[in-house]
Amino acid sequence: MKKHNFSAGPCILPQEVLKKASDAVQNFNGLDLSLIEISHRSKDFVEVMETARNLVKELLNLPEGYSVIFLQGGASLQFLMTPYNLLKVDGKAAYLDTGAWSYKALKEAELFGEVDIVGSSKEKGYNYIPKNYSVSSDADYLHVTSNNTIFGTQIKEFPKTDSLLVCDMSSDIFSRQMDFSQFDLIYAGAQKNMGPAGTTLVIVKDETLGKTGRNIPSMLDYQVHISKDSMFNTPPVFAVYVSMLTLEWLKKNGGIAEIEKKNEEKAALLYTEIDSNPQFVGYAEKEDRSSMNVTFNLVDKSKSEEFDALWNAAGINGLKGHRSVGGYRASIYNALPIESVKVLVDVMKKLNN
Ligand SMILES: Cc1ncc(COP(=O)(O)O)c(C=O)c1O
Repeated sequence: MKKHNFSAGPCILPQEVLKKASDAVQNFNGLDLSLIEISHRSKDFVEVMETARNLVKELLNLPEGYSVIFLQGGASLQFLMTPYNLLKVDGKAAYLDTGAWSYKALKEAELFGEVDIVGSSKEKGYNYIPKNYSVSSDADYLHVTSNNTIFGTQIKEFPKTDSLLVCDMSSDIFSRQMDFSQFDLIYAGAQKNMGPAGTTLVIVKDETLGKTGRNIPSMLDYQVHISKDSMFNTPPVFAVYVSMLTLEWLKKNGGIAEIEKKNEEKAALLYTEIDSNPQFVGYAEKEDRSSMNVTFNLVDKSKSEEFDALWNAAGINGLKGHRSVGGYRASIYNALPIESVKVLVDVMKKLNN
């Protein structure tokens, strides 16, 4: 029996995706060659790249005028590619500081120009999303993080601004419906809801590019990668292929509308237990709770050994909180079945008795 995998990332992927991926490593498309030993310029792989790109556009319902590219370097490289490509020389960028990843992103932007931190929840351990902040009209863009993987908070409503809107969606892309055309740039490391580590999805509105007045090295220039269909250099073929398989799985299972219902059901089950079981307390403010990463703690920390033994015995993996927060974090990404959440809830109930 497989473990109940609550890992925060890399994390659970659908079983059928893992099976297809391992088959393709042996023999891809009946070529008698492995997926990872053929040219990325071969017809078979070019088709994979095109299919993955088109699935992203279709699932997110993107209008014309957006490009979809698959890069390397993780979401962390996007922390600097964003200002490189969007922050004008002598310009200013606005950042909403909602967690360690947002903070890392804004530290990179400070290397390129002025950074205005429009709101921060740092003083309360990032357990909520700041609201009612204003963005000055001369900011080139506002950068937000839709879901704070470490702290378990999630932006429910995105700000309306005159500046460009940039979003790090690494830990909740493809998990909930929204109007994706409100963003000018979206990026996400693949290793949560899309695939294995090794590729980063970038979605960018074409008209925003080429306006900074700055020379950009080729590998860091979105326009270069767009003009070469993500093949300016050798793409991470395995990561792109598995991402394509996961997106096909998502489409086959009803797309984002269906997965969102399942994600809400899973989150409701777990938060209800946290709120009704006197042994546990949630970490994030209720209105900002994430439907992807559920952070909680024991009221009586001396019970941690007992609780840890219980969930380990139940076949649960990856429940420990991030080292900067402690406690527990259940990551309930798209591929995690509700049955695994039920197992966790049963374990929590056992501790109560
Ligand atoms: C919201 C968010 N942004 C950025 C990152 C960094 O991603 P990477 O490790 O791909 O650079 C992570 C990693 O977990 C994340 O959760």
